[in-house]
Amino acid sequence: MAVVPRSVDLLKKSQVEVWIERGAGFEAGFTDEDYAVKGASLGSAAEVRGHAQILLHVRVPYDPPEKGVVAIGFCDPLTDPSIALRYAQAGATLFSMEMVPRTTRAQSMDALSSMASIAGYKAVLLAATTLPKMFPMMTTAAGTIPPARVLVIGAGVAGLQAIATSRRLGAVVSGYDVRTAVKEQIESLGAKFVNITLAEKAEGEGGYARTLSEDAIRGQREQMALVMREQDVVITTAAVPGKKAPLLVTREMVHAMQPGSVIVDLAAERGGNCEVTVAGETVVERGVTVLGPTNVPATVPRHASEMYARNIATFLKNTITKDGQLNIDLNDEIVRESLIARDGEVTNPRVQALVGTHV
Ligand code: NAI
Repeated sequence: MAVVPRSVDLLKKSQVEVWIERGAGFEAGFTDEDYAVKGASLGSAAEVRGHAQILLHVRVPYDPPEKGVVAIGFCDPLTDPSIALRYAQAGATLFSMEMVPRTTRAQSMDALSSMASIAGYKAVLLAATTLPKMFPMMTTAAGTIPPARVLVIGAGVAGLQAIATSRRLGAVVSGYDVRTAVKEQIESLGAKFVNITLAEKAEGEGGYARTLSEDAIRGQREQMALVMREQDVVITTAAVPGKKAPLLVTREMVHAMQPGSVIVDLAAERGGNCEVTVAGETVVERGVTVLGPTNVPATVPRHASEMYARNIATFLKNTITKDGQLNIDLNDEIVRESLIARDGEVTNPRVQALVGTHV
C-alpha cells in the first residue's frame, strides 16, 4: 500500500484530502475502518480515480490516467522507458520513486532503500528455512554443531541487511562488493570482507557501481569460486541501476559447492546474479538449491507498506505547498530527478536518452 492509516495523518497535515480504494489494504493488515478512523474517504477504484488529482501507487499502472493527473510510484523507467512515453502522450505527470536521488535530504523518501532492507532480511530467512542445517553454533549433549557459513555478494542496502540478519542468527558471515568503500561497513557488522583484486575501477556516479568489462568479471569469478566452495549459503544482491544484473555466479561455481548448500539470488528479477537462477522459481542443481524470489518486499506487506507509505508521504510533502497545491519546483533536485513526464514531454534526461527525443 502506498498509504497506510498512519500516513493518512501525514498527508492530511500536508492539507491533502485522502481517498483509498475500498479493501485495498486488507491483505497488508489495514482495514477500511482503520483508514476511515484517520479521516480518509473510501470508494471503489473508479470513485477514487474520479476524485484524485494525485494518484499514489506501489507500482504505477502502464495505462496512464487522464490529462493533468499526477501519478507517483515505482515505474522503473530506466529499464522500460515506454511508460514515460505513454504518460507524456496522455498529458499526465509521472514521478518515479526509483529516481529519487540518494542524497541526505531525500533519505526519508528513499523507497528503494526501504524495500531493499526488507528484501535483504527476508532473503536470509528463505535461506535459513531451506538449508538442511541450522545457522547458529550449538553445544549440546549430542555434540557441537558448527555455525553455518554465509557469503553475501553485493553489499548495498539489501546486502548489508542480509549480513546483519545472518549475524543475528549466529552464522559466520563474509561479504563482498566491488565498491571497496563498503569494507568498513561489512566489518562493522561483524562479517569478513572478501578481498578480490579487480583489474579496473568499479565505482561509478552517485555511490553506485558501474558495469565491469568481461575481463574484470572473469577475474572476479575465478577468485570468488574459491570462496564459494566454503559456504553453506550464498546470497547475491549485486545490481547496477537500469542495467541487467551482472552474472557473478556461473553454473560451474554452483557445481563446486557442497550438496545441500543454498543460493538466494535477490537479483532474479533483473536477470539474476547466478547462471542457474530462474526468476520466481526454486531450482535444484546437483544438490544445490537456487532460489530466485521476485517481489520479495510484498512477502512482508505490513512493514513494506508502512515504510513505503512514509517515503511517499514525505515525497509528497516536498512537492506541495502549505495549502495543499502541487508545486513542481524544478530547482529542487529531488523533484527534478524523479519527474519523468509532464505537459506532453518526457522530462527526465536519462529517460529521454532512452526513448529518443521529446514526444
Ligand atoms: P544496488 O541495489 O544498485 O546494488 C547492490 C550492490 O551491488 C551495490 O552495493 C553494488 O556496489 C553491488 N555490485 C554491483 N555490481 C557488482 C559486482 N559486479 N560485484 C559485486 N557487487 C556488485 O545498490 P543499493 O543498495 O540500492 O545502493 C548502493 C549504494 O548507494 C549504497 O550502498 C550506498 O552507498 C548508496 N546509497 C546512498 C544513500 C544516501 O546517501 N542517502 C541511500 C541509499 C544508498
